[in-house]
Amino acid sequence: MVRTDEMPGGSRPSRRPPLLNLAGLAFTLALVGACSPSNSKPTPRALPELARAEDLNPDPKIFEVNLVAQVAGVEYLPGKPTKAWTYNGTVPGPLVEARVGDELLVHFRNELPEPTTIHWHGLRVPAAMDGTVAMQQPIPSGGSFEYRFVLKDAGLYWFHPHVRSDEQVERGLYGVILVRGDSEPELGAERVLVLDDVLLNSDGSLVDSSQMGSMMEMTGRQGNVLLANGVPDAVLDLKPGERVRLRVVNTANARYFNLTFGGRPMTLVGVDGGLLERPRQLERILLTPGERIDVLLQANGQAGEVLELMNAPYERGHDTGFEQQRPVLRLKLLEGSAVATEVPASLRQVPPLSGPTQLRRFVLTEEMGGHAGHGSMVPIFKINGEAFPNITSVQSTLNAVEEWEIVNDTEMDHPFHLHGFFFQVTSAGGVTETERAWKDTVNVRGKSNLKFLVRFDDHPGTWMYHCHILEHAERGMMGELVVGP
Ligand code: C2O
Ligand code: CU
Ligand code: CU
Repeated sequence: MVRTDEMPGGSRPSRRPPLLNLAGLAFTLALVGACSPSNSKPTPRALPELARAEDLNPDPKIFEVNLVAQVAGVEYLPGKPTKAWTYNGTVPGPLVEARVGDELLVHFRNELPEPTTIHWHGLRVPAAMDGTVAMQQPIPSGGSFEYRFVLKDAGLYWFHPHVRSDEQVERGLYGVILVRGDSEPELGAERVLVLDDVLLNSDGSLVDSSQMGSMMEMTGRQGNVLLANGVPDAVLDLKPGERVRLRVVNTANARYFNLTFGGRPMTLVGVDGGLLERPRQLERILLTPGERIDVLLQANGQAGEVLELMNAPYERGHDTGFEQQRPVLRLKLLEGSAVATEVPASLRQVPPLSGPTQLRRFVLTEEMGGHAGHGSMVPIFKINGEAFPNITSVQSTLNAVEEWEIVNDTEMDHPFHLHGFFFQVTSAGGVTETERAWKDTVNVRGKSNLKFLVRFDDHPGTWMYHCHILEHAERGMMGELVVGP
């Protein structure tokens, strides 16, 4: 059954006793004037296909595109235009679909009123192309830059600014890169699904960050409208029995998507750095900001039924788990039927990393003490006692294998992201990880720790690591790794 009373809007009361729900109250107060569930009826829309970047180069090994960061009107809520910051006028920005070994050449122009850069999240690019302030002067308003690098790994990646990212990404600056490999298994019909949330006023405008409220200074900006490929209430038509492969990325500033499929299993076949070794059947998949999943959903049911991919409540600290579950995508079953092919038992090899020569610890902490523009105290987030940009960089050497231990000493979860290299998680919360996978972003639960192995292969230079809750990164939880020759 499709529920009609749930979208959009995020500040519905929880089942827990109201006096304990202070964060919920703070969210509610922050959203006075924001659009609420009662005054907007959902308007189901077909899941939009992403706009595609056109390859301007006849050479099949070069994918050449123009990318312009520009202010443009979009329509998240039907009939209520939102002034967004976009790549080429759309949110999400254009999809780049290319092949392993292709060279991507991007002619980028900044038509925003402030400086920006583009970071290629998850792609193993030369450090000078990584779009961070460590390696590149921000591109001024009116300026241009040429990004150029070879696509090395099959998988789903995304791009976004690395300057004032909490503001710039929230306003709509993100796009997706889908890199195809040569010998990938055939897994059936596929859709790219970009999940985001936005904090909107009832007239459709973005809530100004100075108005977002003190709780969101702490937790990061959590929107009241969930978006799938730029629209709320997206619907995908399928035949009974049909299977769809969703390539999903979470581009939200802070929201964790805690995905369930009505108790039915979902088949996880890939994560950040491409395919897993073998498929995994899961009833719940947590997708934290920056992460990607490659997941198969099987539409078992009768014609006329609607199956919902839900975002279930998730407590990531400071009472963030109060929201009711809401659908992020509805699968509507049409007449007809389809038979899905077998999923191969083995998808690819992920060679193990071993023999770390260096162990490092990164301790995540938070404290009150910063100052916001509006005069109130805001939290500062630190790694090993230092808040970016006042940090000591970590020095390593090319080809070294290291073990990193992330010690989360805060109440909140933090999605830890490393640029430039994939890593393999070996344990989380003291539990040994048994499935090997290539990751670039991973959740570290509050008051918990996580270990991974990483090899600094063939990419010397300065690389950032940070929490991918963008408000946390911009308030100090970011560091620098220098990989020397
Ligand atoms: Cu999406 Cu520094 O990263
Ligand atoms: Cu990144
Ligand atoms: Cu964080």
